[in-house]
Amino acid sequence: NLHFKTNEKGNLDIGGADALEIAQEYGTPLYVTDEMRVRDNYRRVYQAFTNEYEDFKIFYAAKANTSLAMMKILEQEGSCIDAVSPGEIYTALMAGFEGDRILYTGNNVTTEELKFALDAGVRVNLDSVSMLERLAKIPGAEGTKISFRVNPMVGAGHHDHCITGGELSKFGIMEHEAVQVYQKAIELGFKPVGIHTHIGSGILDPEPFKLAVQVLMDVAGRVNKEAGVTFEFIDFGGGLGIPYTPEEGLLDIEKFAKEIVGLYQDKLAEHNMGQPTMCIEPGRYIVGDASYLLTQVNTVKQSYRKFIGVNAGFNTLLRPTMYGSYHHILVADKPEAEPTENIDVAGNICESGDLFARARPLPEIKEGDILAIMNAGAYAFSMASQYNSRPLPAEVMVCDGTVDIIRERENFADLYRKQNIPLRLLK
Ligand code: LLP
Repeated sequence: NLHFKTNEKGNLDIGGADALEIAQEYGTPLYVTDEMRVRDNYRRVYQAFTNEYEDFKIFYAAKANTSLAMMKILEQEGSCIDAVSPGEIYTALMAGFEGDRILYTGNNVTTEELKFALDAGVRVNLDSVSMLERLAKIPGAEGTKISFRVNPMVGAGHHDHCITGGELSKFGIMEHEAVQVYQKAIELGFKPVGIHTHIGSGILDPEPFKLAVQVLMDVAGRVNKEAGVTFEFIDFGGGLGIPYTPEEGLLDIEKFAKEIVGLYQDKLAEHNMGQPTMCIEPGRYIVGDASYLLTQVNTVKQSYRKFIGVNAGFNTLLRPTMYGSYHHILVADKPEAEPTENIDVAGNICESGDLFARARPLPEIKEGDILAIMNAGAYAFSMASQYNSRPLPAEVMVCDGTVDIIRERENFADLYRKQNIPLRLLK
């Protein structure tokens, strides 16, 4: 179920270009995005849901990949944006999204950040009563259309860190408090028009998602009946998973859409809530499998174990170290080669946890080879850092064989840009 192409030379093809040639020309480590794959992923979800329910919107979760070019593609596709910070709002505006196509779902945001969002004309999705009360104190905020994120007490995700519903979660208001909170919002002069939830990330099993839909719809029904709120939109968040290992199954998006929309419509009818816009916020599903991280092997070392050393590390792709995530690795000049031995693939960061793979079955690899780490489109560059004083890598985007640089590689000067040594230390 892992998606990749091989060209006539037997090399990995990315968007009609040869991965080896791209690495040669732009250097490594390098993020390479296949533009059409992003568009196809977006269209697949959009189609699947609009086939079932016309008034449907995708709010692409920008945090997965905030590259301007990526955002621009989604802007062209007609997507809206789920933004979690003023920086993401700003980036979305720069990519051409108008304020009303952006939903700001912050967690523990400051009053200044709320002001920023209001000034930018984006929709604000509130995470707490504190946020509501502080919003009410901002001059001119009265009458604003708002929504609340609700914790439906259902959570799921590929790792504990990525489960955002349930008793341990810091997100949202409690579902049994919802009526009261919406009433309070009305008393404070706001116009609540939406309800939102997001249960977690990296979910391949539709069941928890389906359960959350039903819980949220029942909460919405109560809020509608008891607080008199007419919902313009209901947002079920993101979380749609993609396979990372060759064995993992694909989410059947058409079946998924049918089931979710079915539940949605049943609950709309049950609670007599009209036909509000249905929203979801996929990030990973849209961009995850569209990019590769190309990295070069610089060391083959036989120590107590056999290590392949590459010129990228957890500064470039944090997921394996942070969540123990599996990312499939291809050898760019023989992506289909059969494994011959189990090897550890290690990064260039000075920590033992800096491993892309432990005892991974891989074909023969030699120094100078280019490796392509798969599924590097989501939560990859967006979580990268300069740790170990390694400048951030470059990013390119490929379409029909044309390669464009979308982010220049940082240099050493970028490491100390914005820093000062106090004058007194230089005396
Ligand atoms: N909506 C909200 C409110 C979110 O917090 C998130 C993700 C999404 C949508 C999109 O979730 P997705 O469709 O991409 O699963 N760094 C982690 C993932 C963290 C996700 C945080 N929130 C990882 O690398 O797996």
